Amino acid sequence: ASNGKINIAIDGPAGAGKSTVARRVAEALSYVYVDTGAMYRAATWYLMKHEVLPEDVQEVLQHVPKMVIELKPDPSGQKVICNGVDVTAEIRSLDVTGNVSRYASIAGLREHLTSGQRRMAECKGVVMDGRDIGTTVLPDAELKVFMTASVKERALRRFKELREVGITLEQLERDIAARDKLDEDREVSPLRRSEDAIMLDTTHMDIEEVVDTIVSYCKTAIGWR
Ligand code: DC
Repeated sequence: ASNGKINIAIDGPAGAGKSTVARRVAEALSYVYVDTGAMYRAATWYLMKHEVLPEDVQEVLQHVPKMVIELKPDPSGQKVICNGVDVTAEIRSLDVTGNVSRYASIAGLREHLTSGQRRMAECKGVVMDGRDIGTTVLPDAELKVFMTASVKERALRRFKELREVGITLEQLERDIAARDKLDEDREVSPLRRSEDAIMLDTTHMDIEEVVDTIVSYCKTAIGWR
């Protein structure tokens, strides 16, 4: 790229720590962080608010062009704005989390969000995390990382950060396994490692180590061109 920057795609299953890591990598490199999961969550929030069921694909598609989802940098992280409403907190609710996979399997919705994501990456210098970034959204990304961790470890990490009343570790494990399955089995853009992605199993790594590893991959990738 003419500005010396590259695009970095970080994919992997739920709870692997992608968003924390991607945000920190972006900070370390002065890149822009794009959380595509937040965009699917905002779309889910919007459709649920308008009482559109995921089974009602025609109605979903009527709403899709009206959805405007913005990611705004903020001292406390990133704000997610949907049609002018700050939905940063609401999109993390159990309600949205439990339904997002169902809406995310709708092709027309994915196309809409994908084209927005591609536009955000046009000028390079983007760290984008999701499920299909390396395979579908940015197949030409100069660095692709596929981050995983065991289901047990991912459930444990969520458990520590969630502290949601009444949810047990076992329940979280089951939820994560179920969401993995939905993400992997859907027809459009399933969760899958791009052949040219570097596999990074973080089960026994802390956040610092993962960030340092990806930053060093990035420096190597920039050095190549
Ligand atoms: O990473 P997350 O948990 O915030 O993602 C929320 C949901 O959105 C998850 O069920 C998978 C889906 N998703 C997707 O289908 N494609 C993406 N690029 C990112 C997320």
